Amino acid sequence: MSRKRVAILISGRGSNMTALVEAARAPDYPAEIVLVASNRPDAAGLASARAAGIATETVDHARHGKDRESFERALDAALAAHRVDLVCLAGFMRLLTPWFVRRWEARILNIHPALLPAFKGTDTHARALAAGVKIHGATVHVVVPEMDSGPIIAQAAVAVREDDTPASLAERVLAAEHRIYPLALKLFAEGRVRLVEGRCVIADAAAPDATLLVPQ
Ligand code: GAR
Repeated sequence: MSRKRVAILISGRGSNMTALVEAARAPDYPAEIVLVASNRPDAAGLASARAAGIATETVDHARHGKDRESFERALDAALAAHRVDLVCLAGFMRLLTPWFVRRWEARILNIHPALLPAFKGTDTHARALAAGVKIHGATVHVVVPEMDSGPIIAQAAVAVREDDTPASLAERVLAAEHRIYPLALKLFAEGRVRLVEGRCVIADAAAPDATLLVPQ
């Protein structure tokens, strides 16, 4: 089996990136991380990627001003130079244009810190607490032009505690993210995820493959 060549796009800390890099160390993992790219030169995750021996690129969005297309063309060129098959967004805080998403159609995954379709966008943990939900979590999905809306590959549910703050809830959700993203990329890279009418159908999956209930 040839391993899929994966680029991870980050904007900051890069803890999900590290979780993917560690999973991909296993010889039987169906993907290898060939590039970590950031739209911010100061992203802490770039140093962790280099320390792990992974090629890095910075495509600084600020240098492209308001011109999203020229930023994305530069990003696209970096991905092509590293012969990337799949892209994983991991805390990448730039909206991608329909041009880029169509160019990489069904080849970009994203992790979102909420149980989609609830709480799209930012500040998900504070909004979940304000809404009084009892179950929160994280979602890995295929990226489509509409933000946080693509077909869901995997989800992890986290119980909300009465005394949670956005920070304490974020910490438990992040731990769940680190478990579910490698799982979702594995299913996807193995070719076990089929897109059918806007949903992901996962071949030969026992339910626990793509869902995770984190005990309180
Ligand atoms: C993660 O919680 C990720 O789900 C979230 O940003 C954090 C990045 O942390 N992503 C989004 O909010 C995307 N809209 P990390 O850099 O340590 O992986």
